[in-house]
Formats: sequence, C-alpha cells, structure tokens
Amino acid sequence: MITLAAIQYSPVRAGIRDNLATIDVLTRTVRTDLLVLPELANTGYFFTDREELLPLAEDPERGAFCSWMRGYAAEHQTVVVGGFAERDARDRLFNAALIALPDGSARVYRKTHLFYKEHLVFEPGDSGFFVVEWAGYRIGAMICYDWRFPESSRTLALRGADVIAHPSNLVAAASLWGPAMAMRAIENKVIVVTANRAGEETSNGETLRFTGESRITGMNGAILSIADPTEARGIVADADPVATRGKAFNAFNDLFADRRPDMYEC
Ligand code: ACM
Repeated sequence: MITLAAIQYSPVRAGIRDNLATIDVLTRTVRTDLLVLPELANTGYFFTDREELLPLAEDPERGAFCSWMRGYAAEHQTVVVGGFAERDARDRLFNAALIALPDGSARVYRKTHLFYKEHLVFEPGDSGFFVVEWAGYRIGAMICYDWRFPESSRTLALRGADVIAHPSNLVAAASLWGPAMAMRAIENKVIVVTANRAGEETSNGETLRFTGESRITGMNGAILSIADPTEARGIVADADPVATRGKAFNAFNDLFADRRPDMYEC
C-alpha cells in the first residue's frame, strides 16, 4: 500500500510567489508517497501571449519551482509530479510536468495534446509517454487534455504504469471528465490521480473557469478521495499499486493479452 495525494487550489495568474506559498502551505497538510500538483501549478494557466509567459517559464534543471519540487521529493522521500511551463535552451515553451524522485533524479513529460489557446504559446510535446519506477511501483504522467485520448493512458499502462499522475487545469464539467477517468482506470486497471485546479482566469477579456473536483480514482473506477469544485485542499487515499499488475480477470481473459492490435487500423 502507498499513500497518494493531490493538491487543489486556485493559482494566481503570473503570481509565482503567491502560488508557491499556497503550495507550501497545502503540502504541509498531507503525508504521502506520491504528491501530484496541478498543471502549470506555479504560473497559472491562461496565457495567450508567448512573450508574457517566457520570463515566467523555467529550465527544469535550475528553475525555482522545479528546484522546489526536487527538494520536496528528497526531504519527504516522496515522488512529486507537478505542472510547470518549461523554457528550453532555444526559448521554446512546453506545457510540462516534472517527475521528481526522492534520489534527486527527475524527468520531464511534455504535454502531448495541446488544448485551445495553448496552441498560441506552447510547442506540442515531444517527450512521449514514459514510466519511472520508485520503491517498487511505477508512475507515468499525462497532462489535463491528454485525458480525452484513450491512447495516452493506454500507452502509459502498456509501458507498465501502476499509477497515472494527471496534473490538470480542467475546464470541462467534472460530470464529463470524471467518468472518463473512471473508465481510463478500468480499461487499463490502473490508479489515476487527477490534481485539478479551481477558480477563474482572464486573458484578453476572455475568462476560463476551472472545475476542481480533484480526485483519486482506484483501479476499479471507484473514487477513493475527491475535493469539491472550489476548495483549496489536499486529498489523500491509500492504494496498492502492485495489485494493478495482473491484467487477467478469469482463466481466459486478460485486458492486455486479449488486445488485437492487428484489428485496430487507426
Ligand atoms: C487543459 O488541457 N488544460 C484543458
């Protein structure tokens, strides 16, 4: 059994200092083996001008927020998955998630499926989906709108993920994405930790409202823990990552062995 946690709050757009202070307070309320923070957790979400986001974005090796996540992982012996705006050496921007391990190592997942006006500021992610192992369990990441594509979670599960960390800034109704996360869990027999945000952001006169209801979804689709639509809090649940591994459910059927990729011509 491990303890999983997601942190939900309402980031201030471009308010890096305030957002980090909020994260610092909320993470003190949980003790966990895996901590998941929302998408773009330190900068806020709704940027439509690349030049505005560029100075707020960071190099995952040296940036303040990524250093904070690595430090938290080492100090608390916890895996941390948190969303941030990545700025690479060529000043390209990616909507990314750092996966920081307690031994000081880290990897960056770059969001595969860009949503709405993210297309104005970010490059499409090129990291692909991958899985890291820590303390005998395997974690993969997808970011927010990646949920719409069953291929995201399927690829992570086929690559061995027991737990999918899902940093999010969802604007879709929770009545839409919530059941989809249950289905992603069931069809792959994996655990999903969705850290969504709450609140609103306005850019160029347009306001987006984020739907909260962060949740930890068990491998049978059950909601193990859930936040309400607006609150700032950490949620936690215990789950057994190793129990996700046997994909057979009777003597003849196995979720992965029964797949017929030769029949899927798309
Ligand atoms: C989203 O991908 N932030 C909706």
